[in-house]
Amino acid sequence: MAVADQAQRLRDLVRGDLPGAEERPAPGPVLAPPPDDRPSAAPAQPSARVARASTDSPAPERSPRRAHVIAVASGKGGVGKTSVAVNLAVVLAGLGRRVALVDVDMGLANADVLCGVKAPFNLTHLLASPRRKLREIAVNGPGGFKLIPGANGIGEMADLPAALVDRLIAQLSLLESQCDFVILDAAAGINSAVLAFAGTADTVLVVTTPEPTAMTDAYGLVKSVLRRSPLSNLYILVNQVEREIQGKEVHQRLALVARRFLQREVGFAGSIPFDRCVGAAVRRRVPFCLDAPGSRASLAMQQLGAALVRRTQAASADSGRASRRGFFARLGEWLKRPASSDR
Ligand SMILES: Nc1ncnc2c1ncn2[C@@H]1O[C@H](COP(=O)(O)OP(=O)(O)OP(=O)(O)O)[C@@H](O)[C@H]1O
Ligand SMILES: [Mg+2]
Repeated sequence: MAVADQAQRLRDLVRGDLPGAEERPAPGPVLAPPPDDRPSAAPAQPSARVARASTDSPAPERSPRRAHVIAVASGKGGVGKTSVAVNLAVVLAGLGRRVALVDVDMGLANADVLCGVKAPFNLTHLLASPRRKLREIAVNGPGGFKLIPGANGIGEMADLPAALVDRLIAQLSLLESQCDFVILDAAAGINSAVLAFAGTADTVLVVTTPEPTAMTDAYGLVKSVLRRSPLSNLYILVNQVEREIQGKEVHQRLALVARRFLQREVGFAGSIPFDRCVGAAVRRRVPFCLDAPGSRASLAMQQLGAALVRRTQAASADSGRASRRGFFARLGEWLKRPASSDR
């Protein structure tokens, strides 16, 4: 497609005036599945507090199944990936799930800062020494999840030598049998590591805000992921909305363009309101779901967590997933592909 056509498409995307945009039905509830492949789920009922949610929820399965891996990604930086990843970890742990959050933003890892924890070691140490073990670098995150602190400034994971990739994957894959959920906090943009995470994770949350630049970049990410990994489970999560309808409108526009130009469906994970409690919690270095559990942003996160639990319970009945190879095995293979191949 000509560059001019692409530019026009992006302008149409952010204006929302592509022909037929208004004809689409409103997207469904949080984590509404793409219409072609999954039954619809009932809307999530937000629980009042994370703490209460843990007692209200059914006992989690303790099966030997592999963890469900959720990659949190975005096109534009600063849209709220780390906030979402950390608070989703808190919510899922509050629902009684075994959760690990891996900070895979190799350029600007900062999940430990948002969690208010001091981590003596991180992924850099795991990479630096063959004797270093995952359990030595994992720290207890607030709310009961395990945090694997990220490396800073070691460059792209996809550029690591094969031996280091093997070492990293061998250690990280331990999480798969020990957890119900593994959440990956990825870097912004479309570097090859992000495409690897998004292309191999079980669920990808593409975080955007209603800002035109964030939406345009979110579409760029969606396009790059789907071109390389057409079967990816992509969901748009709209952060910092002023009204709930805004989130639905953003998803509608992105989903419409993906449908028209990529012939793929992109689900809706819901929206999170702009809420002053988020910034205040960041300054206090406490996840906002613990700092202000009754806030609108926290309720939205609880809704997302509950929807993810429902979806994965439904998926556990699907024997197809159980027979698939684990996420980290798929990731390792991807990362070791020659750079010339279409990652
Ligand atoms: N729902 C929200 N309401 C208000 N402020 C928010 C909300 N979500 C995120 N923020 C603010 O946006 C800032 C950036 O958030 P965060 O660090 O999570 O973004 P990010 O996408 O991880 O950034 P990066 O691309 O640099 O990794 C935070 O300081 C936080 O205060
Ligand atoms: Mg971040």
